[in-house]
Amino acid sequence: MQHRRLSFAYPEDFNPAWHRRLPELAAAANAVSMMMPHAEPFVAKSVRAAAEAFDTDNELLADEARVYVQQELEHHRQHQRFNEMVVAAYPKISRLDRFMGWTFDRLARRSLTFRLAFAAGFETVAYAGARWTDDRLHRLFDDAEPVASTLFLWHLAEEIEHKTVAFDVFRAHTCSVRFRTLRHLGGLASSAVLLALFTFLGTCSLLLAQRKFFSPRAHANLFMWSLSFIFEVMPLMAVSMLPSHHPRSLTDPSWLAQWLNHHDPETGEIPVWNSLGVDSPSASVLGAVAEASGLEADRVLDQASPLAEQPSGVTRVDDLFDLEELSRSVR
Ligand SMILES: [Fe+2]
Ligand SMILES: [Fe+2]
Repeated sequence: MQHRRLSFAYPEDFNPAWHRRLPELAAAANAVSMMMPHAEPFVAKSVRAAAEAFDTDNELLADEARVYVQQELEHHRQHQRFNEMVVAAYPKISRLDRFMGWTFDRLARRSLTFRLAFAAGFETVAYAGARWTDDRLHRLFDDAEPVASTLFLWHLAEEIEHKTVAFDVFRAHTCSVRFRTLRHLGGLASSAVLLALFTFLGTCSLLLAQRKFFSPRAHANLFMWSLSFIFEVMPLMAVSMLPSHHPRSLTDPSWLAQWLNHHDPETGEIPVWNSLGVDSPSASVLGAVAEASGLEADRVLDQASPLAEQPSGVTRVDDLFDLEELSRSVR
């Protein structure tokens, strides 16, 4: 796990209803985004408070928690910036924003044990979200605006890395096994209910503002997505209650997890999502291709775009580029 700084270059004429084919998906994702500047500092501060009190036995976990906090605060920053565009386009959403702020302020007064259980539950739901999305990448994100898609996919991809840390911090903090499962269940249920409630309210509010609320297709899609997500998240929630369970045994979704490897820490770039898979390979990807193919980096760049535009849905450097073909075309 590492803190990745990113810069998202939204087009000047960026439309916060960023999905022309599936406007209801943009509405639901924007509703989740509106919640992030409240939920993420809440879970990050809770985990940090517990980790700061750890003794040397938990030094490694405390280090992991520090990076976790940095990642969550980066998510918060990026969503805050994105949300400003959403609020400017749909000012009525600020009422819900204030209500979410009020709710998380109240939750912040609860005990640290509850807040950590909430954080562990929040991460279980986020991890389920990443798995659910990874299975439907093209169905959901083809034809969507690339920069907004990249924001949401990057966030989900990093959530995969959070599958153990909040859980471990909760367990380390709650040494007594007595009532631990019950507390965990309370946190998990509260986080799932709040996430569902705010996503529902935010989606309705945004669909109304976009004049899409009475679209039967929008409701049919939202219903099917919700149902399939319930089938994704419920087994994960159930299994996370087992005393012998540890989230490290869960199988990570492959595309999102590997895509993160293409982040370039120097430039803050990550290959931007488009309908064909990925586009705009970052400098680190180009460097790796140059090294693997024995070509000069600038010559790779000249040839990269047409090859990268081939339909792929891929992640690894050697999948991103057909190195043999690249070498043939350049030489
Ligand atoms: Fe996050
Ligand atoms: Fe997270």
